[in-house]
Amino acid sequence: MPIRRSLIAGNWKMFGTRAEAERLLSELKTRIGRPADREVIIAPPFTVLETVSRLVAGTSIGLAAQNLHWEPQGAFTGEIAGPMLKDAGCSHVILGHSERRQYSGETDELVARKVHAAHRDGLVPIVCVGETLEQRERGETTDLISRQVRTALHGHDHTTLASLIVAYEPVWAIGTGRTATPAQAQEVHAAIRATLAELSDHATAEMVRILYGGSVKPDNVDGLMAEADIDGALVGGASLQAEAFARIVQFR
Ligand code: 13P
Repeated sequence: MPIRRSLIAGNWKMFGTRAEAERLLSELKTRIGRPADREVIIAPPFTVLETVSRLVAGTSIGLAAQNLHWEPQGAFTGEIAGPMLKDAGCSHVILGHSERRQYSGETDELVARKVHAAHRDGLVPIVCVGETLEQRERGETTDLISRQVRTALHGHDHTTLASLIVAYEPVWAIGTGRTATPAQAQEVHAAIRATLAELSDHATAEMVRILYGGSVKPDNVDGLMAEADIDGALVGGASLQAEAFARIVQFR
């Protein structure tokens, strides 16, 4: 058994009514069955968490939210707390997605606070990092990603670090149809694992799953998944189509 179980997560972003979620889930369940050697997680919008939670009950599909507030409750109009996500059936939560960094001003420090909150509230965080095209072209990718990982994952013991999930999502590859090549992604994944080893130790870093995200499609998933440090995918657009997402889950 490899020490890291492959994980394919679908981030629905701001798409999906209850009726659409029901249609998508029923087709997806038929297509993927119960894969034994890989994990599948769906991250729908807050308003359909409960619907999806009901639809995945008794299957091997897990449920994630796309964000949380760092406080467990309080006067924070429009926000959602970790215990509420647990109550709605979530086991995981995506944190620090580049769209939240870009449109909602989330910083590495804020992401770090949310990672601590997820841990406190019993949710496994999927912590997103990634560089813009300008940063890549300036040759800053490795330093920047390493800084994002260090800041976002500061102050956790080895056991907690081993259980969380990191997603490398180059901003220039998200929703653009432009994927990082397997070699480009592998290079950054290896750098992330090296940073994790510095934060903890080699054995701990070897246990952390690092997903790639950014225009993952049926026709590029196999090449990406063949790389040593790519442990799964965080899929946006293609996760909204049952046939495409099922094929990604069934990467070879
Ligand atoms: P796309 O797969 O649509 O590029 O989105 C990737 C992503 O942002 C997943 O979180």
